[in-house]
Amino acid sequence: MKGDSDFIDVYGSELYDYDKIARRFGIAGFRRELFPSPSRLMRRGVVFSARGQRELAEAISKGKDYYALTGIMPTADRIHLGTKSVVETIAYFQEHGADTFILVADLEAAAARGVSLKEARKRALEFYIPAYVALGINPEKTHFYFQSDNKTVMNNAYRFSGKVTLNEFRAVYGNADPPRIMAAVTQIADILYPQERKRRLGVIPVGIDQDPHIRLTRDVINRMKRSRYVVPSSLYLKFMPSLDGSSKMSKSRPEGMIELPSSPDEACRKIKRALTGGRESVELQKKKGGEPDKCMVFELYKQHLIEDDRELEEIRRECREGRIMCGECKQRACSLMKAFLVGFDKKMGDAKKKIKKIDFLRE
Ligand code: TRP
Ligand code: SF4
Repeated sequence: MKGDSDFIDVYGSELYDYDKIARRFGIAGFRRELFPSPSRLMRRGVVFSARGQRELAEAISKGKDYYALTGIMPTADRIHLGTKSVVETIAYFQEHGADTFILVADLEAAAARGVSLKEARKRALEFYIPAYVALGINPEKTHFYFQSDNKTVMNNAYRFSGKVTLNEFRAVYGNADPPRIMAAVTQIADILYPQERKRRLGVIPVGIDQDPHIRLTRDVINRMKRSRYVVPSSLYLKFMPSLDGSSKMSKSRPEGMIELPSSPDEACRKIKRALTGGRESVELQKKKGGEPDKCMVFELYKQHLIEDDRELEEIRRECREGRIMCGECKQRACSLMKAFLVGFDKKMGDAKKKIKKIDFLRE
């Protein structure tokens, strides 16, 4: 797993050695005890590190005005479970008082990925935004915008471009292709957009792959008049490894990933082939027990399928004590996944109706 390089590829699909990366870039371990009723992902170490978490926790506990923001990159027509985790984390902050912003990175998709603005808009409206709502975002309490409709964001992106140098860009990203530079300064403008009318703290939950953007944002702010923007907090999420246990979760290995939406049959087929922490034979597993912490099925339970901590612990114990075998355990994961997928489809249907009423920001 990667973790030694000075660069994180913001367009890569590599899974990183999370602890190594966090140490290397000086990101602190996440402290769940600072947060009120921490979510499943916070309790289970999926949210594993953070910058500025003390300030964030204080803003929440004191009921201060703060925001949560994420961006949608509308390049595909399905989302992976890592995106689900980011959306659920935004939903957590939304429920804990955050003014919520979700933007569609259509300019980035066009410049860096070759998706036309028209196509990006269509995908966002027909799929991504309903999916985010189905995963728990309250559309009535969320500000949505497309980068290409937001003149303030574009103006600020231009302004911020004057605050970074090509060398710095290379040092942070490892390369400096013009579309990536455009996308990066635009992303800084997105991250700071909610402070346009009012200087305030924000939280940006991301996969570690997005940390270069976060670092650059911090640098840009520090180069401006200190009073202009508050440096936002960021939370880092671990993404599901591929079900076959390999470190890539790229589109070139669709067999290892469950995406949304998926048919229950397709998802179960993948679960049945997943790498487990089971032993070579049933006898051995009964005797020695399984190894849940090496098991991708257990990882699915932990990150996505089981909300209740005691229930999860019970499965861990059953597995360790050799009281449950992998076949049966996978069957259980399939049933839970199926219930989730069916529920997701239904919520998508409802969300599609709701989003017709969304008033997209235009500036
Ligand atoms: N670059 C992000 C991605 O690839 C999308 C994005 C654009 C974003 N602006 C953002 C994410 C602001 C977080 C915050 O998915
Ligand atoms: Fe994984 Fe379940 Fe097998 Fe344990 S019993 S190793 S949790 S599949």
